[in-house]
Amino acid sequence: MAEIYAVASGKGGVGKSTFTAGISRALSEAGKRVLAIDCDIGLRSLDLLLDCDGQVVFDWGDAVAGRCSADRAVISGSVDFIASPRHYEEGFNGENLRKIIDSLKSGYDFIFLDSPAGVGRDFETAVNAADKLTAVTTADNICVRSCAAACAAAEKLGLTDQHLVINMFEVRPAVRKKLLNLDECIDETRVPLLGVIPFDRVLSYASVTGVKPDEFSPSARAFLRIAKRLCGEKAELICE
Ligand SMILES: Nc1ncnc2c1ncn2[C@@H]1O[C@H](COP(=O)(O)OP(=O)(O)O)[C@@H](O)[C@H]1O
Ligand SMILES: [Mg+2]
Repeated sequence: MAEIYAVASGKGGVGKSTFTAGISRALSEAGKRVLAIDCDIGLRSLDLLLDCDGQVVFDWGDAVAGRCSADRAVISGSVDFIASPRHYEEGFNGENLRKIIDSLKSGYDFIFLDSPAGVGRDFETAVNAADKLTAVTTADNICVRSCAAACAAAEKLGLTDQHLVINMFEVRPAVRKKLLNLDECIDETRVPLLGVIPFDRVLSYASVTGVKPDEFSPSARAFLRIAKRLCGEKAELICE
């Protein structure tokens, strides 16, 4: 039965959607059945990152509103995908999204809900439909602070099982000096660290082309290590 993760951050642009696509692919390559759901209503992007934008007919809003069955909203691939609604409608909330997920979850090992930035209505929808929170941040003061606020907001909504992913980690000393170190990020958010993903230009290209990043790239290797940890295996916490 699937574990359901809301991927949230506070600030936008820290890599939530990139993480959702990367971890979903890594888990799928490890033989897991993965469903990724875009919860960024009106600002969908995961369809582009998973290279299935041309296949979207229905979204989870259609399933909630009864315009299609839950499984008709699923686009099948190595990672299965459900697009977010283009517009908000009454009833697009965590409870109703969870009903859709519950009807599908026996077919999956992992389900990721790509949440929008901020801690508003659609963040609450993703958090209320999830069992766990993956908080994504970059290692700068502003993003870490807003990530801590998102973690606290999720906790208030009852989502207490949380872990942290630090993205776009910089190893170049001149840049690193200006950023927080890993311990400072953990202290500020008070959330245990799941993994670190380096800044990797390959990922930016992938977001434009929709083509899967090279398996030997530093980010692909980082996703693989995080996938192992999510599967309960040991994997070193390397920052390369
Ligand atoms: N580790 C990384 N290295 C380099 N670029 C990254 C990395 N993670 C994300 N990006 C880039 O940052 C931008 C924002 O990422 P995105 O996943 O859309 O953020 P969010 O979903 O949090 O708004 C995209 O252009 C993406 O390619
Ligand atoms: Mg996003």
